Amino acid sequence: MSNRPVFILGIESSCDDTSAAVSRDSEILSNITAGQEVHRLYGGVVPELASRAHQQNIVPVVHAALKKAGVTLADISAVAFTRGPGLMGSLLVGGSFAKALSLAKNIPLIEINHMQAHILAHFITEEGKESPAFPLLCLTVSGGHTQIVKMTGLFEMEVIGETIDDAAGEAFDKAAKIMGLPYPGGPLVDKYANDGNPLAFKFPHPKIPGLDFSFSGLKTSILYFIESQRKLDPEFTDHRRDDLCASIQETIVSILLEKLQTASRETGIKTIAISGGVSANSGLRKRLLKEAEGMDWKVFIPKFEYCTDNAAMIAVSGYFKFLRKEFAPQSISPAARYKIGS
Ligand code: KG4
Ligand code: ZN
Repeated sequence: MSNRPVFILGIESSCDDTSAAVSRDSEILSNITAGQEVHRLYGGVVPELASRAHQQNIVPVVHAALKKAGVTLADISAVAFTRGPGLMGSLLVGGSFAKALSLAKNIPLIEINHMQAHILAHFITEEGKESPAFPLLCLTVSGGHTQIVKMTGLFEMEVIGETIDDAAGEAFDKAAKIMGLPYPGGPLVDKYANDGNPLAFKFPHPKIPGLDFSFSGLKTSILYFIESQRKLDPEFTDHRRDDLCASIQETIVSILLEKLQTASRETGIKTIAISGGVSANSGLRKRLLKEAEGMDWKVFIPKFEYCTDNAAMIAVSGYFKFLRKEFAPQSISPAARYKIGS
């Protein structure tokens, strides 16, 4: 293979962020994301509106990513896109765009699993940053998924635990909604939790065997608790907002960490990473660093911009697949339910 660098254009459109990034080998040159404010009004992502917003955003976002990277389409070696999992209408926009570009520029097309990409974000090269070694356990926590993934190589991933109902991000968002906070509530719970007492209120932990998670019971117990308190003080959620946020965050983080510790003990793996939108949570990041001392873990926490949905992780995953010559045909279609390893 020549020593010419590989430039990948990565496209992410699985949910409500339209993102484009350019990588040079495993380094990121640009990572541009357009969020979608429109969903705030509805308290959650409205698929049809997400799809339309992606259509409006994709061309300007790709232009901005190329410009920031200082390259043109003629420099791009291949285009990588999120094939799934995600919302079908959203995936179709990024996928169709990538296919058209591959055809027009006669460059390879690379399909990427979004959850795998959240993990591979740890392998973006940056000055002064070390990448994790294998074997590795990664807790992947987002708005749609909560998984413990055992990795023995870049593409050797096994899901050894996952949620049987809601994802951790959903638990944050649903709790926030019960408190009357706008969507997505996770970052707001994090913000208010900073000023609250995590031990002010106690919520039960689910009893789920093995390495699986469950968060739907937590949502129900938060709902009942708040309803009962509102009978005594109609403004309860305003008066105790910070303590509620801190206690809810503490509960979710503890549930995640307990299973991660069990997974580490059972597998003997002490290299631990977190990824996905909820890995931006300051409570989770702090707690992971604290547990690392007692558990003798080496922990890897992504930069904030690589936690929530972004195309940098798609571009770098595309680079690793490019080296393996794993290209996709034009006939490829989006996969709304796309499991790691399938
Ligand atoms: O990975 P992501 O951007 O999209 C999905 O693939 O789902 O994750 C979004 C989720 C949302 O549920 C959002 O509330 C949550 O990540 N999130 C947070 C924080 N930042 C994002 N949850 C708690 N604390 C945060 N700081
Ligand atoms: Zn995601």
